[in-house]
Amino acid sequence: MALDREMVVGVVGAGAMGSGIAQVAASAGHRVVLADANAGATAKALGNIEKGMEREIGKGRLTREAANVLLARIDARAEPIADDLSRFASCGLVIEAIVEDLSAKQALFKKLESSVAPDAVLATNTSSLSVASVASACTHSERVIGLHFFNPAPVLPLVEVVPWLGVDQSLMPSAHALVKQWGKTPVFASDTPGFIVNRIARPFYGESLRILEEGIADAPTIDWAMKELGGFRMGPFELMDFIGNDVNYAVTRSVFESFFYDPRYKPSLTQRRLVEAGFLGRKSGRGYYDYRDGATIPAPTKDSAVARPVFERVLAMLINEAADAVLMRVASPTDIDLAMTKGVNYPKGLLAWAEEIGVEKVLGWLEALQDEYGEDRYRPSPLLKRIARSRGGFFA
Ligand SMILES: NC(=O)c1ccc[n+]([C@@H]2O[C@H](COP(=O)([O-])OP(=O)(O)OC[C@H]3O[C@@H](n4cnc5c(N)ncnc54)[C@H](O)[C@@H]3O)[C@@H](O)[C@H]2O)c1
Repeated sequence: MALDREMVVGVVGAGAMGSGIAQVAASAGHRVVLADANAGATAKALGNIEKGMEREIGKGRLTREAANVLLARIDARAEPIADDLSRFASCGLVIEAIVEDLSAKQALFKKLESSVAPDAVLATNTSSLSVASVASACTHSERVIGLHFFNPAPVLPLVEVVPWLGVDQSLMPSAHALVKQWGKTPVFASDTPGFIVNRIARPFYGESLRILEEGIADAPTIDWAMKELGGFRMGPFELMDFIGNDVNYAVTRSVFESFFYDPRYKPSLTQRRLVEAGFLGRKSGRGYYDYRDGATIPAPTKDSAVARPVFERVLAMLINEAADAVLMRVASPTDIDLAMTKGVNYPKGLLAWAEEIGVEKVLGWLEALQDEYGEDRYRPSPLLKRIARSRGGFFA
């Protein structure tokens, strides 16, 4: 199995992710076959790609000639696909970006396997299913890998490259190298719930919600604390409203259930009520904030006596997750820090941040929380304890 610049890349599913991935592959010089089960989806995808390129042309980052060459590389025929996937016969790599539903993905992989060359590689862009469960639909499952792009794929550099229990291990270095050739930042992640980013980022939302629920600070103040003291580009509530509370809540639930209900990932009732009420965020006009015409966003309480403990509590929980991901060998410390800065734009890698603050100090924040609440949610990672004890570092 070879993944090279000459191969044709197939993308199944022409929604938000599929269209972005098709653009990325075409920008890297590949011929791309983009298809969807729904009529009109590929036309819409091409429209979105063109719109994105117009913006790039406007900013002087792309010439019209280059944009036309890129578009001409994408074969996005309008006819929807069903059982006949022969359109992908010439592809050396097919990336699946269809609906997040295991039985739909398994049915697709089963059909794909018999439609492509025996040495073609099949990848899933799933966010919350295990690569193992998707791959298990194939007879030659060793050629299935996870390639998890972030939204919008043409903009965000991170791609989590995910092997699974039965993968042909020799594939992994070439998948990593291919993603790099595409101008992206590849990181290896184990086939565990949420991979790196969607696991480690959970407390950014969950702990902020807990602080809100306890009335320690309101949403604008928590958002202000994380931006002002932490340097995060968006506060947790602004970000949940931007992502959509339905989407964010679904990811949290999926990670919680996949970890056999570990209390560290427990979803929030507050967020659940917002979803039930249809307060999904920007897209529905209301979320934690009111976006309807004439509404105003309340001002934060710019008081560091309130903001600092909020910031330290959320950051300590994030660092704890990152440390535990190292402990559980989800990824290397370097890849974990890269993932959080390149996938979700964190201002610093969490492990480097812990070292900057002092691992002992962060451990102290967590121990105080665990002491006060007595909840397993706040248990410090054994790796933090070991590093604090030995006065070592994550990267040593
Ligand atoms: N949206 C994100 O932020 C994001 C980020 C990373 C990964 N993902 C993952 O990427 C995948 C796609 O997500 P999305 O946001 O692009 O969804 P989307 O709803 O925008 O697009 C999915 C597309 O797949 C098509 N489709 C559904 N079933 C199909 C089938 N059997 N064959 C062919 N096409 C089919 C749909 O018509 C639709 O156009 C999901 O697995 C999702 O978890 C999403």
